[in-house]
Amino acid sequence: TASSTLAVIPGDGIGPEVTAEALKVLEVASPVRFESTRYDLGAERYLATGEVLPDSVLAEIRGHDAILLGAVGGKPNDPNLPPGILERGLLLRLRFELDHYVNLRPSRLLPGSASPLAEPGDIDFVVVREGTEGPYTGNGGALRVGTPAEVATEVSVNTAYGVERVVRDAFARAAKRPRKKLTLVHKTNVLVNAGSLWWRLFEEVAAEFPDVTTDYMHIDAAMIFMATDPARFDVIVTDNLFGDIITDLAAAITGGIGLAASGNVNPDRTAPSMFEPVHGSAPDIAGQQKADPTAAILSGALLLDHLGHPEAAARIEAAVLADLSERAPGAGRRTSEVGDAIAARL
Ligand code: NAD
Ligand code: IPM
Ligand code: MN
Repeated sequence: TASSTLAVIPGDGIGPEVTAEALKVLEVASPVRFESTRYDLGAERYLATGEVLPDSVLAEIRGHDAILLGAVGGKPNDPNLPPGILERGLLLRLRFELDHYVNLRPSRLLPGSASPLAEPGDIDFVVVREGTEGPYTGNGGALRVGTPAEVATEVSVNTAYGVERVVRDAFARAAKRPRKKLTLVHKTNVLVNAGSLWWRLFEEVAAEFPDVTTDYMHIDAAMIFMATDPARFDVIVTDNLFGDIITDLAAAITGGIGLAASGNVNPDRTAPSMFEPVHGSAPDIAGQQKADPTAAILSGALLLDHLGHPEAAARIEAAVLADLSERAPGAGRRTSEVGDAIAARL
């Protein structure tokens, strides 16, 4: 039978706990066999060896069909683990090196999941977050650190090449959805250099997609509507940092961070795409089987869809939907129990 190769990076905190459940569900749902290779990257390896992502390991990972990642990030304020070491050196390095320029973050209010909004409406949008540029590139620095004259900069990098390709991808996704609506979210009134580049390319590419209705919102106002009328959104395209922030709020209004899945997609397929929950390593609940593995499981569905198995992805979504509708509020099932219940439905 056919098989695919999977690089698995469970990572830190709740990462290994939720990844185990995602693999459990993938195993029963997938029409192909997965040959998985586990990579012990993360805080433990760094603290033991000083290694974050050796070039040889990156080269190996590159050879797989897809990557499944749990979460990275150690315990807060660990003096041996400077902030950003793993986030930048492992997670962002993978996104950049493997050219994951589409950070795909769907947000749907599934029946059975509770929104904190009184009248959430029919929430079903997808954020296309740029994944390789913006303020994330490490372009900046710190001068005279620790003195009253300290200066710190993080310069947002926006290239015509990078903006155009993600905007075009977002238009193509919007064109395939029933409402065919694309909202650009930025801050063109203040970030005028990047803003005018994004706006111009958005308008240019829009001409190629006459069926897609376009809209623009400043990031601050977009957050008003995200909290008061999120059903208005269909596809949102935005830069790396805005997209990071929007998608945690999007998770919160659609049942919580434990349900939010994501794909770091290389649409040109020049390297494997990487699938991971939107959430982090949650050190506050790590190692206790308290984490909800649903986000990781749904990320597995995105992975299957990307590898050309949309029916299997839909089966996982249906199993999650059924499980959600039977979840008793406050019933603290263990991480593995949630995974078992979803796998059993398949
Ligand atoms: P976080 O997402 O880890 O946690 C925020 C809150 O959400 C916590 O209270 C946590 O308990 C809760 N939570 C998260 N996932 C959950 C789940 N599956 N089920 C139930 N509750 C869940 O964000 P943070 O606390 O800001 O970051 C912790 C670490 O994770 C940091 O080191 C950060 O850099 C890293 N991080 C990594 C990723 C990633 O790997 N993609 C994403 C975000 C943060
Ligand atoms: C996410 C995370 C990462 C990001 C961090 C850990 C680098 O918050 O995947 O949303 O900002 O992209
Ligand atoms: Mn985030």
